Amino acid sequence: MTRGMTSFSLSKVFMFFSAIFLLHGLSPLNASVTRNYTFKVALQNVTRLCHTKSMVTVNGQFPGPRIVAREGDRLLIKVINQVPNNISIHWHGIRQLQSGWADGPAYVTQCPIQTGQSYVYNFTIVGQRGTLWWHAHVSWLRASLYGPIIILPMLGTPYPFVKPYKEVPIIFGEWFNGDTEAIINQALQTGGGPNVSDAYTINGLPGPLYNCSAKDTFKLKVKPSKTYLLRLINAALNDELFFSIANHTLTIIDVDAVYVKPFETQTLLIAPGQTTNVLLKTHSKIPNATFYMMARPYVTGQGTFDNSTVAGILEYKDSHVKRLPLFKPTLPSLNDTSFATNFTSRLRSLASGKYPANVPKKIDKRFFFTVGLGTSPCDLKNQTCQGPNGTKFAASISNISFIQPKTALLQAHFFGKSRGIYSPNFPYSPNWFNYTGNPPNNTMVTNGTKLMVLPFNTNVELVLQDTSILGAESHPFHLHGFNFFVVGRGFGNFDMNKDPSKFNLVDPVERNTVGVPSGGWVAIRFLADNPGVWFMHCHLEIHTSWGLKMAWLVLDGKLPNQKLLPPPVDLPKC
Ligand code: C2O
Repeated sequence: MTRGMTSFSLSKVFMFFSAIFLLHGLSPLNASVTRNYTFKVALQNVTRLCHTKSMVTVNGQFPGPRIVAREGDRLLIKVINQVPNNISIHWHGIRQLQSGWADGPAYVTQCPIQTGQSYVYNFTIVGQRGTLWWHAHVSWLRASLYGPIIILPMLGTPYPFVKPYKEVPIIFGEWFNGDTEAIINQALQTGGGPNVSDAYTINGLPGPLYNCSAKDTFKLKVKPSKTYLLRLINAALNDELFFSIANHTLTIIDVDAVYVKPFETQTLLIAPGQTTNVLLKTHSKIPNATFYMMARPYVTGQGTFDNSTVAGILEYKDSHVKRLPLFKPTLPSLNDTSFATNFTSRLRSLASGKYPANVPKKIDKRFFFTVGLGTSPCDLKNQTCQGPNGTKFAASISNISFIQPKTALLQAHFFGKSRGIYSPNFPYSPNWFNYTGNPPNNTMVTNGTKLMVLPFNTNVELVLQDTSILGAESHPFHLHGFNFFVVGRGFGNFDMNKDPSKFNLVDPVERNTVGVPSGGWVAIRFLADNPGVWFMHCHLEIHTSWGLKMAWLVLDGKLPNQKLLPPPVDLPKC
């Protein structure tokens, strides 16, 4: 590349980002700056599908505001709670090196922010660039409290792919006509499955395939012969989604804010918690057509689900003056596990000199956890519960259904007051049974608040094994505080004698949320180099509510930069 071209493209980058930054009051010139945001959590009436409801929002916006920052920046986000609910916000995928107090899951790293109170989340973005997102991390409030986090590369560092003409966040969500807090509370009381959503949304809009919704359609107006960077985020509560744009090919370049080896596809799969950056190259001539972009669920479980489709419209500029034929993409069938498997196996780390895949090679600790649904006894008086055979639905990791403590685990740990709050004895591996075979007679889970303790800098290998106790099901697993490498996956029971020899230690995908295949297993590796208490859970919110969650406690290292810092003075109290 010649000098002239470099300065030309930089000035265009400058112009483009100036536009973004002006919106946010940021200066594009400064590298590594502090960026301040104020998040007022307040009620706001929102209407979709002809239903108006009062929703918990940030700054009255639904979806919530975007955070735009650069790698290396410090973020100070003041969250002010002006609603009756307890609030906490999680910065999903941010590593939070030494800043575990800012991670956000309620009763894990902090007590929630009570009505009328505020808390400043203070953290620095280290070694990450791409798309992440923020969401409430208490009960089901993330149904309406979510938004994108866009992390630009450091100033002067180009993308390792063609420079996009424009960048567009596309955040999928779920709309419920009813109140989501009432829905989850009722489900937990009766023990049955929760009411399903009434629509999926793209940037908060359900689109024309729902009743009374055509005016609430996301439109992407494009120019011919341009490359658009779509930053896709799945913020749906309970559904993995297939996504496709009619007559257009997508190039996957990044997942969970880590670059991957680019590959082309018509359709992609994105689980709750995951992000996917794709390049969309528009046709070279303005076509005589408009195009639907559509998303609908990938479903493996037995229960009811929202079997509907969200659509947005891709429209070439000036083409709207005419009535043009509308093309629809073909999406895989709802239970197309072979599509899911093929798509997932194509994701590989870029593993370049500049963006290496630092896969842990020498493992210090190996763990094997089962994950799946189960039951717990009915505790209703004079009534049967609505779960399987009159019991209550439950879910567990290693057959332990996680009980939320009354105070935050990280506080309990830091101040040496863990007694009665948690025990440091999460089991290494469950009793053997045929995990994916015929279900055992006893489907009851046990309960507890148990943590797995790791010395600083432990190289961890973890196999997550789905169970078929109440039917096999895909579980998008999210680990806080770390990225991990997905070194292996397969169907049936994990075979510790045969399967590890097939692990990919060269260019496995690095991410923060991975699907445990339905009726199968996934093996991940990570380096526990971040002291604190780190939540790990299924990102299907109903499974989290049923107890499919646990936490790791990573101890301090010896050096000053290997220790968790003391909590901020405004850390909320329980
Ligand atoms: Cu995106 Cu623990 O969550």
